[in-house]
Amino acid sequence: MTMPVVDAEYLKEIETARRELRAFISSKKCAPIMLRLAWHDAGTYDATTKTGGPNGSIRNEEEFSHGSNNGLKIAIDFCEEIKSKHPRITYADLYQLAGVVAVEVTGGPTVDFVPGRKDSRISPKEGRLPNANKGVPHLRDIFYRMGLSDKDIVALSGGHTLGKAHADRSGFDGPWTREPLKFDNSYFVELLKGESEGLLKLPTDVALLEDPGFRHYVDLYAKDEDAFFADYAVSHKKLSELGFTPRSSSCKLDSVVLAQSAFGVVVATAVVIVGYIYESRKRMK
Ligand code: HEM
Repeated sequence: MTMPVVDAEYLKEIETARRELRAFISSKKCAPIMLRLAWHDAGTYDATTKTGGPNGSIRNEEEFSHGSNNGLKIAIDFCEEIKSKHPRITYADLYQLAGVVAVEVTGGPTVDFVPGRKDSRISPKEGRLPNANKGVPHLRDIFYRMGLSDKDIVALSGGHTLGKAHADRSGFDGPWTREPLKFDNSYFVELLKGESEGLLKLPTDVALLEDPGFRHYVDLYAKDEDAFFADYAVSHKKLSELGFTPRSSSCKLDSVVLAQSAFGVVVATAVVIVGYIYESRKRMK
C-alpha cells in the first residue's frame, strides 16, 4: 500500500482521533490492551529483511490468530470504532496513536507521535514476538533483531506497569503492580522486591535482574522515575517507528528548497531595484 498523504487535513483527523482515543480509553479503562496492541503490531519488525513492524498487519486474521496475540482482537475491534469515523487514518498510525495515548492517559510520559505509516496486508510468520518463558539470550535475539538495545529492552519492559496477564490468553495470571491502570515505575520497584503476594513476574521479567547489562537499568528506573519516563519515551518512539521514516526529513528538504527559492527571489528583486536606480540616475544626468 502507498504512503498516506500527511496533509493538513490528515493532521487534523489525527488530532481529533487522539482526543476521541483519550475519552474512549479512559472510559473503557482499556489502556493496557491498547498498549499491548501497539507493541505487538510493531514488535514483529526485522531490521535485516525490513519486514514486519508497525504496519497495521496485526488486523489480518492470519496474524491476530497467532498464539502470542491472544485477546488482542478486543483492542483491534476497539480501534475499529475510531477508524470508522476517520477512514483516512491508516491502521498502522491508529494502533500506534492508541499506544501513545494509552501511556499518556494513565499518567505516563508524552511519547512523540509522527503520522504517516502505511498499512500492510502481509503478515510475518508466527514467532517474531518474545516468548515469556525464555531468558536473557532470547530477549536479546528478539529485540536486537528489531534494531533495539539493552536499554530499550528494560525501558520497554516497564510497559508491564500497566495491565495484567489473563490465564485464558497467555497461561499467566495477574498484574505486575498494585495499580495496573497507573503508568509509573512500580514495575521496577516490585521486580527488585522479589516474590510479592498476588503479583506476577514472567521469566522474561526476572531475566532483567540476572544480566548486569539489564540490571543496571532496573536499579536506575526503580529509584528514579524521571529517568525511567525519559528513557521510556525515547524507546517507545523508536518501537513505534521501526521501519518507518517520518516525513519530517522530506519536510526539512521542502524548507531548504523553500529557503533557496526565497533567497533567489530576494536576489532577483535586488538586481531589479539596483538596475532601476542605475537607469534613473543615468536619466537625471
Ligand atoms: C520483554 C518481552 C515481553 C514479554 C515476554 C511479554 C509478555 C507478556 C505476556 C505473557 C502478557 C500477558 C498477556 C495476557 O495474558 O493477557 C503481557 C501483557 C502485557 N504486555 Fe507484555 N511482554 C513483553 C514486553 C512488553 C512490552 C515491550 C510492552 C509495551 C511497551 C508490553 C506491554 C504489555 C501490557 C500493557 C500487557 C497487559 C495487557 C492487558 O492487561 O490486557 N509488554 N506481556
